[in-house]
Formats: sequence, structure tokens, C-alpha cells
Amino acid sequence: MGTTICEYQPGLANVPAAESGISFIDGDNSILEYRGIAIEELAKKSTFLETAYLLIWGHFPTKDELDTFENDILHHRRIKYRIRDMMKCFPESGHPMDALQTSAAALGLFYSRRALDNPEYIRAAVVRLLAKIPTMVAAFHLMRKGNDPIQPNDDLDYATNFLYMLTERMPDPLAARILDVCLILHAEHTMNASTFSARVTASTLTDPYAVIASAVGTLAGPLHGGANEEVLLMLEEIGSVKNVAAYVDKCLANKQKIMGFGHRVWRVKDPRAILLQDLAKQLFEKTGHDEYYDVAVALEEAVTERLGEKKIYPNVDFYSGLVYRKMGIPSDLFTPIFAIARVAGWLAHWKEQLVENRIFRPTQIYTGNHNSPYIPIEEREFTK
Ligand code: CMC
Repeated sequence: MGTTICEYQPGLANVPAAESGISFIDGDNSILEYRGIAIEELAKKSTFLETAYLLIWGHFPTKDELDTFENDILHHRRIKYRIRDMMKCFPESGHPMDALQTSAAALGLFYSRRALDNPEYIRAAVVRLLAKIPTMVAAFHLMRKGNDPIQPNDDLDYATNFLYMLTERMPDPLAARILDVCLILHAEHTMNASTFSARVTASTLTDPYAVIASAVGTLAGPLHGGANEEVLLMLEEIGSVKNVAAYVDKCLANKQKIMGFGHRVWRVKDPRAILLQDLAKQLFEKTGHDEYYDVAVALEEAVTERLGEKKIYPNVDFYSGLVYRKMGIPSDLFTPIFAIARVAGWLAHWKEQLVENRIFRPTQIYTGNHNSPYIPIEEREFTK
């Protein structure tokens, strides 16, 4: 029997699962860095694809490197008609995260050669996944409405093209830039549940499409990426500022979590929530106010008043939905958009995991019985 080397920690809280040079959080001092660069700097000065390059290859691209990377992605945005046909058969009532997980996994059927020690293979997989995931999200959305998917437009940058494919019209440039910044803010976040899932899957040396599909499935849960959708449903349920206090009291009395608040690592307001709130305000200034923004601000005040001493503050999911809603994006696409961004971080972790890979094989603390007898079926009692 092997020896356990530390006490059991539910949720692996504070247990390091890898050594990583990709991102860093100081949850007391509001610091989030990608490859050592503050998220605020990247949000102001970078683009999503440049940030993805930085995360995945560990350094900023030169002008030529960035041009080539963007160009490669541009030329791989289309999805095979057989993948599109497969997606057409998905039930239109199915959740877009399930559609995305299935479609991402299906890429492995079409690009099945696995050569994890070949840098060209790694690069092609990175390009393909970053290029095709937005197209798959948009295609499923249009097909579930009974429309044909819109082909990617080669004249448009990454975020603009995604909004164009999704909404079937040319987006406002400010909205497209804001979406690009949202993608930067969601691109990476140290060892969270979906990233851990990606690394565990990567550690078996399976293909990168399986790695991304497993991470998408993990992100979908309401305690993780799925919270952004839940936040909007909650704001709709609250409906008006006057109902906020009663809603918070009800949640606390029922020990029900308030969506978009709290975090394992952040002990202050998540810096991404601060940036997203600012983006929401910029968007509302141009395109008109959103009544739910007032509800959200009142909710933040009420929760901070009651739970501030537990260090429960808005997380990244709290304001993102309001931004997407203003862009005309339905709430069940908020988490797929999170996934589009986080593919960059997952791929960075996939690549890092492969460098000195050892398969994840933790241990457990067995709490079951031993030497139990086999009970014949006629003697078994119904147990609830
Ligand atoms: N509303 C009310 N109370 C909360 C909340 C919340 N949103 N979050 C944490 N608490 C309380 C919790 O009840 C517990 O109190 P006590 O110690 O008295 O029992 C204490 O704070 C610690 O909470 P926890 O659930 O043990 O903390 P955790 O680190 O295991 O969970 C979390 C972190 C994010 C899952 C949790 O805060 C939560 O469920 N939040 C709501 C869902 C959400 O917004 N998720 C998005 C997270 S950020 C983006 C992402 O990861 O994708």
C-alpha cells in the first residue's frame, strides 16, 4: 500500500497540482498576471489572439509571428460539412455547452493523427481549436433556430467575425472590441476545475480534442463557468432594485449560493469583475442603459454588506452576462463564450503538461467496508 503524503483536502483546496509558469493570482492584492503581465495591461493594449499566443508560447509574438498566427487561424475557421451535418442532428433544445463539448470531441475523429512530440502537430492543433470553436458555437446557435450557419468572413478579425456569425449582422466596432477584451479576461485563470480537467486528460497523452472536450464539460457546471448564465437568470428573477434585499435574505436563510459571488482564490472583488463592470458601462453609454445593471449594482452592495466579512465579492461571472446581453447574445451562450476564451489557457496547460508529463494518479481515502459477504438476491432488502 502506498503512503499518503498529506491530509485529505476536500476540493483539493490549496493542494498544488502542477508547477506552472502560465498565470499567477494574488487573491488578497487583486493581482492576476498572464506570463507575468498584469491583466489590466493586456485588457488595455492587447488583442485576444496576441494574448492567446503569449499564453501558449510563453512570449509575445513579433509582428511577423502574430501575422502568421492570425492568418493561420483565419484560414482554419471553417468546419467540415460533416461536422456541421452532425451538429444539425443535435436537438435544438440541447444546451450549447453540450453541443460544443460533443463537436470539440468530434474534431478528434477528423484529425486523428496523434504526434505529441511533433511541434508542427502541436501548432496545427492549437490553430485548429482556436479557429474552429467559435464557428461551432455560432453554427449550433443558428441551426437550432432553423437557419443555415453563416460562413466565417475573412475580412473580419476574431471577435468581429464571431459576432457576425452569431448575430447574422455586422457588429458595432465598440461591441466587437469589448468582446475581444472579454475574451482576454477569460483566457486563463491558474489551476481551476476545467484547467485541472484539461491537465488530467492531457497527462494520459490522449489527443488535444479530447483534452478540450473534457475541459468544456467541466466548465459547463453552475459552480464554474455556468455561473454567468445563472447570474442573468437570477437578475431576471429579482427583476427590480426594490426586490434585492429580500432576495439576498431569502438566499442566506436557505443557505443558497448567490451566483456570481465568491471564489476559492479571490479574497477581494475579482479584478476581472472590475474591468467587466467598466466595459458594461462603456457599452451602455453607447447603446443605452440596461435596467438589470442597476439590479446588479444593488445586489453587489447588499451581498458585500452581508457577506463582505467572509470575503465574498463579485467574481468574473457577475458582470459578463450584462455585457453579452447588451450585444444581443442569448444567456445560454454566455458559457460557450467563456469556453472560446479559455481554450487559450487550456491549450497553454496542455502544452506545458506535455513537457515533463507524468500521468495524474492521485490516491483516495477508502471509507467503505472490507470482507463483505455476497448476499443472494432473494435475501436482499430494499435500501433507499
Ligand atoms: N453566496 C453565498 N455564500 C457564499 C457564496 C455565494 N456565492 N460563495 C461562498 N459562500 C460562503 C459559503 O456558504 C461558505 O460559508 P460558510 O463558511 O459559512 O459555510 C463560505 O462562503 C465558503 O464557501 P465555499 O463554497 O466553501 O467556497 P469554495 O471555495 O468551495 O467555492 C465557489 C467557491 C466559487 C464555488 C462558491 O463561491 C460559489 O458556489 N459561488 C457561486 C457560483 C459562482 O459564482 N461560480 C463562479 C466562480 S468564478 C468563475 C469560475 O470559476 O468559472
